[in-house]
Amino acid sequence: MTDRYAVIGNPIAHSRSPEIHAAFARQTGQDMSYERLLAPLDGFAATAMQFAREGGRGANVTVPFKLEAFTLARERSGRAEHAGACNTLAWRGAHWYGDNTDGVGLVRDLTVNLDVSPAGRDILVLGAGGAGHGILGPLLATGPRSLVISNRTAARAEELARLFAADGPIAARTFAELGAQRFDLVIDATSANLTAVDHADATALPWPETVFAPGALAYDLKYAVEPTPFVHWARLHGAARAVDGLGMLIEQAAESFLLWRGVRPDTAPVFALLR
Ligand code: ATR
Repeated sequence: MTDRYAVIGNPIAHSRSPEIHAAFARQTGQDMSYERLLAPLDGFAATAMQFAREGGRGANVTVPFKLEAFTLARERSGRAEHAGACNTLAWRGAHWYGDNTDGVGLVRDLTVNLDVSPAGRDILVLGAGGAGHGILGPLLATGPRSLVISNRTAARAEELARLFAADGPIAARTFAELGAQRFDLVIDATSANLTAVDHADATALPWPETVFAPGALAYDLKYAVEPTPFVHWARLHGAARAVDGLGMLIEQAAESFLLWRGVRPDTAPVFALLR
């Protein structure tokens, strides 16, 4: 029987994960299917458990359920424990095992695909939700000079800064407190403007326009066919390069695939196919 996998989120129609995993399965000769599952905003756990009852072997979890996926998982990897969020679930016969491949996916995209070393650099992470949780440990492990986390709700950024204080030089700032500070790497880990289609919305992004140091890379964890509002905004305000999160999406997917199937696919041809 073909093994079933899925990506669970809300919204989910835009997800490119099915294309990615189908390409990985073809490349590695695995007999598996991979579908999109829309969970009601108040029904993530029920949707994941129902999927397991119907034979689901594994799932990716996306906005806004990564923190709930962590709670649902009865057993977790060390990196998921550390992140406090799960983007990957694997069915272990009677319960979900939770992992987090977001951080390793981002760092791989930065260092291998984009040839950017965060070591010794000043990093700004915008957002303190599920996506933010996953990337802080792996980013701090690369040895930046500083990492500032900034969130609309200040208390969430402060909590993350406390949680990751032992991993490296992390500090929380409100958007206003960013002032004229400049950063070499600015990562948008918010869900702001996720569904914006009009670039006029980019002018409404709530961060100081002065955050980009000379040569800075702007990185949006979200991805789209068109430049995302953040990518558009970053180019307008002096980022030397601005990319969306398609590379990270493919790299985190490869790590999930490795957990499920025991084989790591080659990501470069899949990136070329999707872009
Ligand atoms: P995810 O799993 O993608 O991180 P999430 O847990 O719902 O999803 O978190 C969404 C993040 O985007 C949060 O950091 C949120 O800020 P708050 O903690 O203040 O809610 C941020 N966010 C969402 N909409 C935003 C907006 N319009 N402006 C700024 N930040 C926004």
